[in-house]
Amino acid sequence: MYSQLLLICGVFAFSEGVDLSSPEVFDAQFYLNNYPDLHIRHTSEAAKAHWLSTGIAQGRQGCGSFHSKQYVTRYPDLTSAFHTDYTSVIQHYLTNGIHEHRLGYIDGGYEGRWTISNGKDLFISASKRMGGAIDSLVWNNKQMINMYDHGRELQMACNSDTYTECYNPTEAGGRDDSNHATTHTQIQWVRAHSNLLESEVHPAFWLRPGTHEKRAVHNSCSRGSPSLTHQSTYSYPFWKRVEIGVHGMPNAVEFMSNFTLAGDWPQDLRYIQMEAPTGYMPGEFTTAYRFNPKTLSLESHGSSLEPPVLSTQDGQYAMGVYSPPGQDSDTFMYYGVSLRLGGTSFTGSTNKWNVVYRKRRFTSGVHHQIYKTYICVGTLNMVTTCLHKLIQEIPHV
Ligand SMILES: *[C@@H]1O[C@H](CO)[C@@H](O)[C@H](O)[C@H]1NC(C)=O
Repeated sequence: MYSQLLLICGVFAFSEGVDLSSPEVFDAQFYLNNYPDLHIRHTSEAAKAHWLSTGIAQGRQGCGSFHSKQYVTRYPDLTSAFHTDYTSVIQHYLTNGIHEHRLGYIDGGYEGRWTISNGKDLFISASKRMGGAIDSLVWNNKQMINMYDHGRELQMACNSDTYTECYNPTEAGGRDDSNHATTHTQIQWVRAHSNLLESEVHPAFWLRPGTHEKRAVHNSCSRGSPSLTHQSTYSYPFWKRVEIGVHGMPNAVEFMSNFTLAGDWPQDLRYIQMEAPTGYMPGEFTTAYRFNPKTLSLESHGSSLEPPVLSTQDGQYAMGVYSPPGQDSDTFMYYGVSLRLGGTSFTGSTNKWNVVYRKRRFTSGVHHQIYKTYICVGTLNMVTTCLHKLIQEIPHV
């Protein structure tokens, strides 16, 4: 029935009974956002048409968990059978490879993308384009991170109160890196192996020297305020370590962030605010909950001290976050949630959660602020169970 229906609609996506644009190999948002050079309309139909007519043959990557070129390179038996016949490579993955538990990426990184996984259903990748920041997280064939521009992703950032974006080292890149293929973040190194991803980068300042804030915000960095830096890139590192499959749960991720705070921060700042990290999710993750640690259940309202969960309306895909109490913070730590940001476009609309720590001004020296955060992914039920277990097992650090 399923294939008949598609054929009636005139979609020529089938090749020997295999749908070459099925979600195991293709995600329209990933494809459009990962290839800003495509210059096609940002709709799911346009992305799919380009993928089928051109992208597959060119060996482009269709989603964060699978890439034909990497798949065929990873396995020598496939290399000799298929060479650069990427249509056959994708067919092989869909009909055999998945069932044989083969993986569609090269361990250790390939052409500016580093992928790790739990070997089964959760894939995380970071890109050179985004300064080594995580721009894809795929669970059960669903892309859960928005990568429209350099201010989204799943990434670390810090800023100074109340100068916010006017002094704002940002892991993935600067505002004017926009949706371009390059970034002003300088990667020192990235290592990816099995289920572990680590990187050290000098992040771009969100606003470069000589540019101005464009948004009307009510603080010391509002529309027209100048960038407070003399460099495009922060001179000190952001370091992270990301591990999939912790506390016995293949769907739990540990994100350890390490901010180096030093240099020319504005003199009169009250505190330095660290987002450790922030996750920007696709437009459809509009249902927000808080995990109430007393009732051990999700509630649609709750305090900013309670772990947030963002989900699709049907509860089939969700992400929740927990950062154990007891970490080094001078004022207070909270979880933020902002829904329906970034307009209404297919690729741009986004929903965000963040984990925020604050430190008062340091008078001198170089400081490393290190934070641990746990990210649970899965269905809404899986995420609830995962948060519950983490809170029990790590009541504080
Ligand atoms: C934190 O980052 C700094 C600079 O990247 C590094 O020297 C230090 O070893 C890191 N600390 C930990 C505990 O990983």
